[in-house]
Amino acid sequence: MFSNRTPHHLAPNRLAKALAERHAEGRPLIDLTESNPTRVGLDYPHDLLAPLADPAALGYDPQPFGAKDARLAVAKEYARHGLDVAPERIVLTASTSDAYSLIFKLLADAGDEVLVPRPSYPLFEHLTRLDLIAARPYDLEYHGQWSIDFASVERALGPFDSAQGRPRVRAVLVVSPNNPTGSFIRRDELDRLAALCAPRDVAIIADEVFADYELEDDARASAGRVVEHADVLSFALGGMSKSVGLPQVKLGWIAVSGPTTMVATALERLELICDTYLAVATPVQTGAARLLKAGAAIRRQIGDRVRANYRWLQASATAAPACRVLRSDAGWYAVMQVPALESEEDLVVRLLAADGVLAHPGYFFDFPRESFVIVSLLPRASDFASGVGCLLRHFDCSPANT
Ligand SMILES: Cc1ncc(COP(=O)(O)O)c(C=O)c1O
Repeated sequence: MFSNRTPHHLAPNRLAKALAERHAEGRPLIDLTESNPTRVGLDYPHDLLAPLADPAALGYDPQPFGAKDARLAVAKEYARHGLDVAPERIVLTASTSDAYSLIFKLLADAGDEVLVPRPSYPLFEHLTRLDLIAARPYDLEYHGQWSIDFASVERALGPFDSAQGRPRVRAVLVVSPNNPTGSFIRRDELDRLAALCAPRDVAIIADEVFADYELEDDARASAGRVVEHADVLSFALGGMSKSVGLPQVKLGWIAVSGPTTMVATALERLELICDTYLAVATPVQTGAARLLKAGAAIRRQIGDRVRANYRWLQASATAAPACRVLRSDAGWYAVMQVPALESEEDLVVRLLAADGVLAHPGYFFDFPRESFVIVSLLPRASDFASGVGCLLRHFDCSPANT
């Protein structure tokens, strides 16, 4: 009766089961996986969403790429990062997930492939499958910092043969900074990726939703940004969900760049797709400019929070030699390498059962080997310190003093 776009077996994993039991028993929890900024005690001004009630939104004037003023406001977001993007090349979406789906429809037919980084964001498996395409991994490697294993990219792309016709791989996804590794794609890496993709007519999709949240000083300065690349068709993704901590408002965007004629054709086709769905609500478009401006206060609070927790974690790891905090350029997450005394799954289930601390195992993000634990840097400092403290004590290590 049902399509194969959704998995046939949706059984919860052991951690999800243990979590459901804990919730059912009403027992407290320190959630080191919390990625919802509205749940971590930030100060959201009570009138922050007032722009959504602007009477201008009482009229409906559908525009496939979104209202001009809202697109202009997004162009200013790029200008804030020193990047020049014409509003005509900006497409509003209901979310980043919505943006992926629109771009997959633009680039790929059923059975085509996109390359996705490994480790990365687990949602790619569903996002691709729901659009009938396959996600093929390429690897990121850690040597004191994360970098792309280009041999794995080249293997996945296959040899370049201009006589071969349309390749099955339609795009390479880059998450910069990546979730959960926190790594930016460096400028030299992006140049190299563009040089591989452009001759094959393979596009680059760069998810930059966490780009505002630098954790290591000056990491952003060496990051590559696709909007600066005129040699390859690319799609940069951003959104209010992360940039101003407003996931419930549902506004994302795509910035299209590359060779002029290719961009024009891509926009023409994308317009038809967007016009078919018109998924972005009018009030958020009317309010976008003011929400982005006022949201800077939330961005600052999130930035302060994630940096403080990251610093605390680094200091604690110094006092806990068995555990290592991997370098994270930016974003909302940190990766800890821990002794492989038991499986990652056993560790996180035991941590939850014994201490009421929820953390994610590395295998959720497709780390190639064990043992890694992923923690969100968003929780309140006190929760973060207690939760990480419990984790470190599992390895007979005490956290550094806060
Ligand atoms: C890398 C990455 N992209 C996109 C998103 C989701 O963004 P949105 O809420 O705009 O769909 C997330 C959410 O955690 C993410 O980690």
